[in-house]
Amino acid sequence: MNQDKKTVFSGVQPSGNLTIGNYLGAIKNFSRFSDEYKTFYCVVDLHAITVRQVPAELRRRTYETLALYMACGLDEKKNTLFVQSHVPGHAELGWILDCYTMFGELSRMTQFKDKSQKHSENINAGLFTYPALMAADMLLYQTDLVPVGIDQKQHLELARDVAMRFNQIYGDTFTVPEGYISPDTMKIMSLAEPTAKMSKSDPNQNAVVYILDSKDDIMRKFKKAVTDSEAEVRYSEDKPGVSNLMTIYRAFTGKSFEDIEAEFAGKGYGDFKLAVGEACADGLAPVREEFARLIADKAHLEAVMKAGAEEASYYARRTMSKVRRKIGFVN
Ligand code: TRP
Repeated sequence: MNQDKKTVFSGVQPSGNLTIGNYLGAIKNFSRFSDEYKTFYCVVDLHAITVRQVPAELRRRTYETLALYMACGLDEKKNTLFVQSHVPGHAELGWILDCYTMFGELSRMTQFKDKSQKHSENINAGLFTYPALMAADMLLYQTDLVPVGIDQKQHLELARDVAMRFNQIYGDTFTVPEGYISPDTMKIMSLAEPTAKMSKSDPNQNAVVYILDSKDDIMRKFKKAVTDSEAEVRYSEDKPGVSNLMTIYRAFTGKSFEDIEAEFAGKGYGDFKLAVGEACADGLAPVREEFARLIADKAHLEAVMKAGAEEASYYARRTMSKVRRKIGFVN
């Protein structure tokens, strides 16, 4: 049962459309672990309801997120793909870890502060304890490695602290997970405001490129991308717009920054933006095609999530029986 393999876990919320930031910063990397690790990739619907969701949309996006995982190269035979609410251990361990996570720790989470500002009419307890549920996701599978975007680094560190605290009290119970943050694509910035992160909920539609955008949309957005008043394709901190486009171009073409600077020496930003748009659209085309094929076959997606939940439950139950025993719950 792959006992010797180390474990990878990551999750994506079925809320909103995923951006090339989510893709390059996280999902694109997931498949590289499939051979060497036991991998769990989860559609985290329990997390999604910390902000109000329209039920039919949540359901649709749950299927879509699973299909997107698969379209991004995750083979269901080599990876455990499943939906969080299908494995009761997440909610159960989430509650338990709530009791080992401090109010002060949760109060310091920048995502909580941001989200409670954005959803000031609905600052619910789940929004606050979200990081403890996220810790439960990872600890439930004795996860070694967690590929995530850099925005999740603080949550990951909290999960490590909670795991160590629990282990301190009860003796070795959980593996303490490490983050894997892809160094090349740590942060993809907004095309309209390149000093801010590209965010899937940005109201400015030109700021964000979605994984499933059409080629026309992608080209239009890159053409409108904010650059600067020079006309030099050069990577530099004081050129955030151009540097962001270079990061995206590098991620899709594999070219180095030096290659890119040489390629566009003496050319204007117009040519450069077109090239970035083309590279991005071409890179995403297979994902979009595969997604269209997968989303049309709901029965297959349901079979994948069912098999994934069964597999995940096996591992979750093992951890939960250990946790219950350590805490002192009657068996
Ligand atoms: N909070 C993560 C995000 O919004 C999603 C997530 C939930 C996750 N549980 C996780 C990521 C566990 C990694 C591991 O992106």
